[in-house]
Amino acid sequence: MISPQTIQQITNRIDIIDVVGEFVKLKKRGANYLGLCPFHGEKTPSFTVSPAKEIYKCFGCGRSGNTIGFLMEHEKYSYVEALRWLAARYNIEVEETEVSDDVKLLQQAAESLHIINNFAQKFFTTQLFETDDGKDIALTYLQERGFKDEIIQKFQLGYNPAYGNVFAKAAIQQQYNSELLLKSGLVVNRNDELADNYRGRIIFPIHNNTGKIIGFGARVIGKADRAPKYINTPENEIYVKSKILYGSYFARQNIDRLDECLLVEGYTDVISLHQAGIENAVASGGTSLTVDQLRLIKKYTNNLTIIYDGDSAGIKAALRGLDMALEESLNVKLVLIPDNEDPDSYVNKVGTTAFKQFVADNKKDFVLFQLEVMLKDAGNDVSKKNDVVNQVAETLSKINRAEDFTKQQEYIRQCSSILRIDETGLTTLVNKYKRDRVAKDEKHRQAEENTIAAQDTAEGASEENVFLVNQDEPQERNILRVLLEYGLNKWDDDATMAQYIFNELEQFDFNNTDLEHLYNEYRKQYEAGLEPTVKKLLYHDEKIIRDLVVLITMFPYELSQRWDEKLENMNILNRDTSRQDVGRSVMFFKLKKLKRMCEENQQNMERSKNLHEQMQLMEIHRHLKNMEIELTKQIGTVIIK
Ligand code: GTP
Ligand code: MN
Repeated sequence: MISPQTIQQITNRIDIIDVVGEFVKLKKRGANYLGLCPFHGEKTPSFTVSPAKEIYKCFGCGRSGNTIGFLMEHEKYSYVEALRWLAARYNIEVEETEVSDDVKLLQQAAESLHIINNFAQKFFTTQLFETDDGKDIALTYLQERGFKDEIIQKFQLGYNPAYGNVFAKAAIQQQYNSELLLKSGLVVNRNDELADNYRGRIIFPIHNNTGKIIGFGARVIGKADRAPKYINTPENEIYVKSKILYGSYFARQNIDRLDECLLVEGYTDVISLHQAGIENAVASGGTSLTVDQLRLIKKYTNNLTIIYDGDSAGIKAALRGLDMALEESLNVKLVLIPDNEDPDSYVNKVGTTAFKQFVADNKKDFVLFQLEVMLKDAGNDVSKKNDVVNQVAETLSKINRAEDFTKQQEYIRQCSSILRIDETGLTTLVNKYKRDRVAKDEKHRQAEENTIAAQDTAEGASEENVFLVNQDEPQERNILRVLLEYGLNKWDDDATMAQYIFNELEQFDFNNTDLEHLYNEYRKQYEAGLEPTVKKLLYHDEKIIRDLVVLITMFPYELSQRWDEKLENMNILNRDTSRQDVGRSVMFFKLKKLKRMCEENQQNMERSKNLHEQMQLMEIHRHLKNMEIELTKQIGTVIIK
C-alpha cells in the first residue's frame, strides 16, 4: 500500500497538462487545452483539458476524468500503478505502509528477477547482433524467415550461444545471486556448476503488459529433431504462465483503439503480424485460455478473434476456453488458416491486405462453429445428436449476465434452427443447466440470485415508476454541485453552507444511489473535519466518486440556468451570489421532493380501500400541499427580491 502522505504529495504535484501532454498533442484554447482524442479516432479535436479543474473531457466520445483516471484509461494502469508512474515522474519517493515480511521478500525476489532478466535480454541481443556466431547462425536464420532488424529490435529478440556457457559466466561475473539465477531459468546446475539453459537458441523475451521482462521463450534454430522446439522460463515469482499473453505490451493500445484482440498461437505469429502492421495480436502459447488471460483481454476489448491454423492441435485447447469466455461476456470469433499455414507463414505469403481480408471474410462465431463441428462428428447418430443438443445447452447456459440476455436469446434462436429443434425446448434445457449448476455451486447461487433480483426489479418497475425514479436527478445533482462548490463557505455566523444543506435536507432521501453515495461521502469527510473540496474528491480512491465529481463540475448548470440569468444582473454589482445559489438549490430540491411525495400519496389514496387509512392519507396530502405552497411562495420572493 502507498501511504496517504505519498498520495498527497503526488496529487499536489500533478500537472494535468504535463501528464496528458505526454501522450496527446495539446494546443492552448482560452483557459483550456485542446487536442485529438486518444480514445477514439477523430480528425477535428474535441478532447479538452482544463488545467484549472484538473480534468479532461472528450466531447466526441464522452470519456472524462482526472490525471490519474487518464493514466488508468490510456495506459491501462491500475490506480496504484498510475500513482507509481506519477511518483517516478516527479521524483517523489514512494512510502509504503505496513508491508508484511512475506510480501517484502516476495517483492525483493520479483525485483531481482526483473533485474536479472533485463541483464539477460541485453546480453542476448548483443550476442545476436554483435558476435560472428550470432550473426551467422541466429540473425541469418531470423532474416531468412523474413524478420526485419527493426522488428527484431522492437521485440528485443536475442541469441544464446551453444557453447562455453557464456551467459552463466557473464552473470556470475556480475555477481548475480546463483539461487535467483536458477530461479530465473536462465541457467541450470550441471556437475555442480552453473551452465546455460538456452544453448544455441533464439531468445524471445516475454513482457508483461507494462513492458517489464518477466521471462523468456527459447527456440532451437532450424528444425527441432531431438530437443524440444521451445523451452520456457519455469514458473517463479514473476513468470506465471496462466497470466501471460505474449505481445500484450505491444498490442494493448491497438487492441483498445481497434476494439478487437487477435489471438494467435505462437511468438512468431505475433511478431510477423506486428511486422505486417497488424498490431493488435497476442499469443497464448498454444495452451487453453485461462480466466486470467481472458480478463486481461477484457480490460481492452470485448471482441476476441482467435486465428489458428486449421489443423492445429491448439484449436481443441482453445475451444476449452470458450465457455469461460462466454462467462466473461466476451464475443468470440474464430478464423482458421488453411493449407498447413499458420498466421506467421500466411501473412508472409499473402501480405497484409489479403490477410486482413481473409480474416474479415472467414470470421465464424465460436459457438456456432463448435456446434457445426460437433454436428459433423455426430452424423446421423441420434444419440450423438442428442449429446450435441445437451452440450450446446450447457455452453449457452454459461451466458449468464443480465446484460447478455439478448445475446443468449439470439444464440438459442440460431442454434435451435441449425439443430432443427424447438426453440422453447432449447430454452428450457438451457435453464435446466443453469439451475443444475446453481444447485452445485454455492457461490454461483449467490451470483445467480443477484442477477435474478436485478431482472425482477427491472421488470417490476413500470415505465411510470422508472420515470419517477429518474425525475429528481437534476435537483439532486444540483445540490451536490453547490455543496462541492460552496460547502465550506459561510452561510451565516453560525453555520457553513454545508451544514445548512445537511440540516435542510435531513428529512429527504436521494433517489439516485450514486449521488447519494457522493453526498454521504462528502458529509462523512466534512464531519470528520477533512474539509472536502472538489480537488480532494477528484483523487478519491473510488472511481464512482471521481467520475461523478468530474461530471458534476464539468456540466454544472443544467437546472440553475433559469435563475442564473436573473443572478447575472446582480453579478454586475460584483456581489457574491453563492448564498442565493445554495438557498435556491435547496428550495428546488425540497419542492421536487414534496411534489413527488404528493404524487405517491395520491397513488396510495387511489389504491386504498380502507376509509380510516384514506382519511389519514388526505391529512398528509393537505400537509404536503401546504408545505409546497409555502415553498413556492419563498422561491417567488427570492426571484423578485
Ligand atoms: P515457429 O515454428 O518458429 O514458427 O514457431 P511457432 O510459434 O509457429 O510454433 P508452433 O506453432 O509449433 O507452437 C506455437 C506455440 O506453442 C509456440 O510459440 C510456443 O509458445 C508453444 N510451443 C511450441 N512448441 C513448444 C515446445 O516444445 N515446448 C513448449 N514449452 N512450448 C512450445
Ligand atoms: Mn510457425
